[in-house]
Amino acid sequence: MIVEFILNGEDVSLKADPLERLSDLLRDRFGLSSLMSDCLEGICGKCVVFLNGRLVNSCLVPAFKVRGSEVITYEGFKSTDAHEAVARAFEEAGVELCGFCDAAMFLATASLLESNERPTDEDIKETMSSIYCRCTTPSITLKAVRGVIESKMGGKYDRAR
Ligand code: FES
Ligand code: FES
Repeated sequence: MIVEFILNGEDVSLKADPLERLSDLLRDRFGLSSLMSDCLEGICGKCVVFLNGRLVNSCLVPAFKVRGSEVITYEGFKSTDAHEAVARAFEEAGVELCGFCDAAMFLATASLLESNERPTDEDIKETMSSIYCRCTTPSITLKAVRGVIESKMGGKYDRAR
């Protein structure tokens, strides 16, 4: 089947098996290596992308569901002000990331603050625990997410930018 969708602001089209994983399409066909294919079961959270504005585990999304959608990966998110705010807050909080899941962490932070401008500590820990990370804990990343909120720059992620 032909799958047409918007990827990081650009119209794209490709031939795919209807059940092919979105994570495979993005990594193998578009060379978007920021997302990791780790567990392939929706557990580790390392393959997250925005699908129509909602953060999803792309390993669980079949190609046929992507038709007509808007997909934003970390590569697309990186050019936004929201990314800058999140990255700075993590740095200022002294959170050291090895690079294996920082893309997923940043996207999860932006997604949380887009849906909830005033999350509680529990909300933040719950969100961050959806990303399996060997380098940090949800308590460590809490400080960074709080930093984004305090800078008042993480509230709205304008997907059009
Ligand atoms: S690879 Fe998708 S959640 Fe783990
Ligand atoms: S930053 Fe190293 S595993 Fe998450």
